[in-house]
Amino acid sequence: MTAPLIDPFQRAISYLRVSVTDRCDFRCVYCMSENMTFLPKKELLTLEELDRMCSAFITMGVEKLRITGGEPLVRKGIMTFFNSMTRHLDSGALRELTLTTNGSQLERFADDLYAAGVRRVNISLDTLDEKKFADITRWGRLPQVIKGIDAAQRAGLRVKINTVALKDFNEDELFSLVEWCRSRDMDLTFIEVMPMGDIGNEDRIDQYWKLSDLRARLAEEYTLTDLAERTGGPARYVQLEETGQKIGFITPLSHNFCESCNRVRLTCTGELFMCLGQDDMADLRPALRNNPGDDAPLREAIRDAISHKPKGHDFDYSRQDVSGRVTRHMSHTGG
Ligand code: GTP
Ligand code: 5AD
Ligand code: SF4
Repeated sequence: MTAPLIDPFQRAISYLRVSVTDRCDFRCVYCMSENMTFLPKKELLTLEELDRMCSAFITMGVEKLRITGGEPLVRKGIMTFFNSMTRHLDSGALRELTLTTNGSQLERFADDLYAAGVRRVNISLDTLDEKKFADITRWGRLPQVIKGIDAAQRAGLRVKINTVALKDFNEDELFSLVEWCRSRDMDLTFIEVMPMGDIGNEDRIDQYWKLSDLRARLAEEYTLTDLAERTGGPARYVQLEETGQKIGFITPLSHNFCESCNRVRLTCTGELFMCLGQDDMADLRPALRNNPGDDAPLREAIRDAISHKPKGHDFDYSRQDVSGRVTRHMSHTGG
């Protein structure tokens, strides 16, 4: 184990999010445009290269690894990669191996993921209405995702639902989503919509549903108690006293949580993005490819990149226009 990764603001980097593909079988309106151009397959890091990258980060103190996309489970051979990461769980170097998924492929993969050591999955789902689900994901079908969730729970995976809070879209489903998650013993986290990607961000302001408002509405029906508990991600949690369930809030817009940021993002081509909301990145691929069998240059490149991690994002809707937007699609850096 080498010295831990500390950024210029004295934040220790212990959480790596890895986007293993930019492709997805959905086209969520806030994430992608209808006609996306994806990277040619030859641009992708191979599964072996992904392993080398992640293993280098783990030797440098990364304890939490989250696999994202696009949709991570559409990457060919992805279970080979998960299975290769199991050794870091076994050695104790990695505390958590997990993924964020749209759920569409979970029916097929849930058991294998559990066998690889995954214990928790975050599943994106914004509505329980089939028609609205088809609208917001453009290509997704709700029953398939529900089957995926069933399979995940059957396999023993703890499920957290991620819901992007969208005014005039799922405002009216607040209580039904909460009740549905309670009935299935799943956690639920709401996310403020961020201005990502060149996909008509003007609409983002109209859709922006501030989570403090959402929280106030919840408080009309439930007694909320703030929890000190953290999962290592940006969510802050409350407990609903009446049901005991846990609800998370991810508030990049209304309450910036960058001061406690502990994460960086690796894309499927080997670029390291130091912040979701900034364009700063370091291409780690040359250090990887030019030095087969020697990870020292890669570790040096990683350390150098972390020394440039920005203080935070500049997302802001407050001036009635969208500022701080990044043109990268969310699927590029995996949320
Ligand atoms: P837990 O381990 O369950 O806490 O997960 P997590 O919240 O770290 O991961 P998840 O993939 O569920 O993240 C949910 C969403 O939160 C992401 O897709 C992003 O939209 C947002 N998010 C996560 N990290 C950051 C961050 O550093 N900055 C901003 N602005 N948003 C983030
Ligand atoms: N703003 C907020 N969350 C987003 N996600 C995708 N695009 C956006 C956006 N523009 C969420 C998805 C998923 C996670 C990977 O990121 O719903 O939960
Ligand atoms: Fe796919 Fe997730 Fe983006 Fe939706 S939000 S298009 S499921 S990557």
